[in-house]
Amino acid sequence: MRTQVAIIGGGPSGLLLSQLLMRAGIETVVLERQTRDYVLGRIRAGVLERGAVELLHRAGCGDRLGDESIAHEGCNLSTVNGMFRVDFQARVGESVTVYGQTEVTHDLYAAQDALGATIIHEAHNVALHDLEGGAPWVSYEKDGQTHRIDCDFVAGCDGFHGISRQSIPGDKRTEYERVYPFGWLGVLSRTAPAADELIYANHPRGFALASMRNPTLSRYYIQVPLSDTVEQWSDQAFWDELRRRLPASVADSMQTGPSIEKSIAPLRSFVVEPLRWGRLFLVGDAAHIVPPTGAKGLNLAASDVHYLFETLRAAILDADAAALDQYSTRALTRIWGAMRFSWWMTSILHRFPDQSDFDQKIQEAELRQLETMESAQVTMARNYTGLPY
Ligand code: APR
Ligand code: PHB
Repeated sequence: MRTQVAIIGGGPSGLLLSQLLMRAGIETVVLERQTRDYVLGRIRAGVLERGAVELLHRAGCGDRLGDESIAHEGCNLSTVNGMFRVDFQARVGESVTVYGQTEVTHDLYAAQDALGATIIHEAHNVALHDLEGGAPWVSYEKDGQTHRIDCDFVAGCDGFHGISRQSIPGDKRTEYERVYPFGWLGVLSRTAPAADELIYANHPRGFALASMRNPTLSRYYIQVPLSDTVEQWSDQAFWDELRRRLPASVADSMQTGPSIEKSIAPLRSFVVEPLRWGRLFLVGDAAHIVPPTGAKGLNLAASDVHYLFETLRAAILDADAAALDQYSTRALTRIWGAMRFSWWMTSILHRFPDQSDFDQKIQEAELRQLETMESAQVTMARNYTGLPY
């Protein structure tokens, strides 16, 4: 088989890139390790920046998003001193869109099917070859046979645990990482959201977040020690702890119910440089991981896709090979901006096991400035609603 761009990974990054390239007349093949049902079963954050929404519309995937999403013009932050709101619209004239990533992925698969995309599921042992030459190729196994795809470019959209990043020689890549000493226990429930907008809570017992997917589907998180397991947390224990950490006015009136999904996720900040190795380009979680506090994971994947689509379109359709040299630097500039914001949100909202009394006072001062200073709220709102592409 031959194609112009071989895309490793059929998650949001791979599907969105394939959709944009195909609509520009560029051939793609997507290789996905899992089944489609498995990919669609993932529960992930659901806050989209305007840039990501516009890109999905440009990709022809925005109809359901436009009909079913919720616009949020601000969010709430809760501390022991009470709750305050950061008004995105008033501070930076922007809002965010609440729409589950599962729905984004579903819409992308539907759009790719409509274009007759070649998406190969259960493609195992993918390997990348001759990336530094002008004729890279990809091998994979399926149904007991080994297959080969010759291509012009390879997009590594295979997430943090994929093969693409590892295909850059270890002495040619630099990895930057911070692992946080806690995890997020998340629950999805068919209940009405606790509030109209998100509530991020800094509490002496730990962080909590009240979010949502739609008016009848809510998403909640509480900070837990890394040693905790899901089995240790009954639904009742989760609701009791969440209520302790949310403002009483919210906790006393919130609707609870059985969890339809419950899991614990670790938190890390991670970036690899460079994002290019010969004909290989890294995109999304293959290139970086952010703690979910700033809701940047999917949004960073979207801006990476935007930059790589522009790069490949120029190189393939306009014979502008110089564009290939710009992708990594352009993408990394925005990546580090979002990395900083996600680290900052995580630092001011969580209780760190080893934090000193001084650290706690600094955290309280950060939150007080965010509550009382317009400039602090403008900076937070600008980052939360999305840095420019
Ligand atoms: N071969 C083929 N496919 C692979 C391989 C491999 N070796 N390794 C991983 N994959 C697939 C995974 O099964 C997954 O479907 O690559 C896909 C990567 O998707 P994501 O991990 O979702 O990463 P990405 O598409 O960059 O999306 C980033 O979505 O998953 C969230 O937290 C993530 O919000 C972020 C955004
Ligand atoms: C979510 O709805 O899953 C969500 C929202 C905002 C975040 C993280 C997760 O910062």
